[in-house]
Amino acid sequence: MDHSRTPVVEALVDFRRRGDVAYGPPGHRQGRGVDPRLLEVLGEGLFAADVLTLNGLDDRRQSQGILEQAQQLMADAVHAEQAFFSTCGSSLSVKSAMMSVAGPGEELLVSRNAHKSVVSALIIGGIRPVWVHPHADEELHLVHPPEPDDVRKALAAHPDAKGMLLITPTDWGTCADIAGVAAVCHEAGVPLIVDEAWGAHFPFHPELPTWGMDAGADVVVTSVHKMGAAIEQSSVFHLQGDRVDPTVLKAREDLLGTTSSSSLVYLTLDGWRRHMVESGKELLSEALARAGRIRTAVEGLEGLSLMGREVVRPGAAFDIDPLVLTVDVRGLGITGYAATEWLRDTCRVDLSASDTCRISARITHGDDDRSESVLVEAFEQLVARSDEIDRAPQVALPGLGDLELESVMRPRDAFFARVEQVPLKESVGRIVAEMISPYPPGVPVLAPGERITAEVIEYLRTGKDAGMLIPDSADPELGSLRVVAE
Ligand SMILES: Cc1ncc(COP(=O)(O)O)c(C=O)c1O
Repeated sequence: MDHSRTPVVEALVDFRRRGDVAYGPPGHRQGRGVDPRLLEVLGEGLFAADVLTLNGLDDRRQSQGILEQAQQLMADAVHAEQAFFSTCGSSLSVKSAMMSVAGPGEELLVSRNAHKSVVSALIIGGIRPVWVHPHADEELHLVHPPEPDDVRKALAAHPDAKGMLLITPTDWGTCADIAGVAAVCHEAGVPLIVDEAWGAHFPFHPELPTWGMDAGADVVVTSVHKMGAAIEQSSVFHLQGDRVDPTVLKAREDLLGTTSSSSLVYLTLDGWRRHMVESGKELLSEALARAGRIRTAVEGLEGLSLMGREVVRPGAAFDIDPLVLTVDVRGLGITGYAATEWLRDTCRVDLSASDTCRISARITHGDDDRSESVLVEAFEQLVARSDEIDRAPQVALPGLGDLELESVMRPRDAFFARVEQVPLKESVGRIVAEMISPYPPGVPVLAPGERITAEVIEYLRTGKDAGMLIPDSADPELGSLRVVAE
């Protein structure tokens, strides 16, 4: 295919060349109706590019098929049979993918280190999760993705399960053996969905971990806004083989998606694909070299522990994304939360994620010499001035096994049940009816339907005191929890 073409971008250029005057949405009229003070901040280009596809970039019948062409080019670029653009992030794509594999009351294997959008799909779709627990790395206090053998055992115990959802890479950059898990699923005759929200760049460089489509997954979801260069909310889901019906997949997306898709998302996805096909290898080689230099600098800093390939071993990670710099800061006597806040306040450096133990920074092809040196200097400052940083109260880190809770109700049944709000201490032993997801990264510690334990409550209580943010709890202070009424 001709990857120098960008059907959506070309349609915008044509729209401008023709001088079309639009009378439908968006009402800002390509910026003419926008407050000049806002235009000054955002720039005219943003609004000028916000043109609907219908009766705008394309005609009423969408007869030019610009979106279809752009999606076909994307599929070709990343070795998928089909690609679908979504303007509602992977949060929507992952739901569409899951609900096209399992329906109400049906079982789906789900890796428990799932993002909250996965748990939302279980609730909306009435799907019964068969939790496949990831591997605990007690020393690092994080989990690595499940292995093929874990999936084999889960499928043997749940022969009616409709498929598997695997999350890789994890928020900290560790990757699963997708090919191994795909083989196990396919032996059992079920599809594998991969939530590869953090892996949109993988198809474009041979030194990056194997991309889900190349590893034989049936559906792969990516967020191009995360490690790629499309704007926020830009997601693509990819399909191959005949285990998932594309019509069903599209219908599920249609059920959940917006009828006013942002052409800014389409435009940036289209342009990003061309850029990556033409220059991705070279740009990502530079990013890899940059990340390598930063790694060398950070490895020499006392008190910081940078996660590297030592975690690639049986029972732990299958691979890592070298562009993700996951740094344990416990050696400095501080939490990841305190480190993140200090770095922002003092060095004007905004990191990707943090938790009680660590922080992460991500390098993309968009980084340059300045952002490289700023990051290295920030890490040096963090070490040199760590005495200035708040010693937050100690967090009661549970053994990771203690975070594997008993699932006693279908998430949907618990979420929609009659509920009551009970003080935190009294919630022990009750069935949680809400999601409790420290953010970022947004992996629920509690998912509806799970039985609450004292260890988890202590972890959340002490974590909150140390700076853990939980944006989805019904009680913003987390003094109480929403549980299923007895
Ligand atoms: C593993 C994973 N899946 C899905 C999502 C949702 O992606 P989005 O933010 O594009 O909706 C995220 C977001 O952080 C994520 O980390």
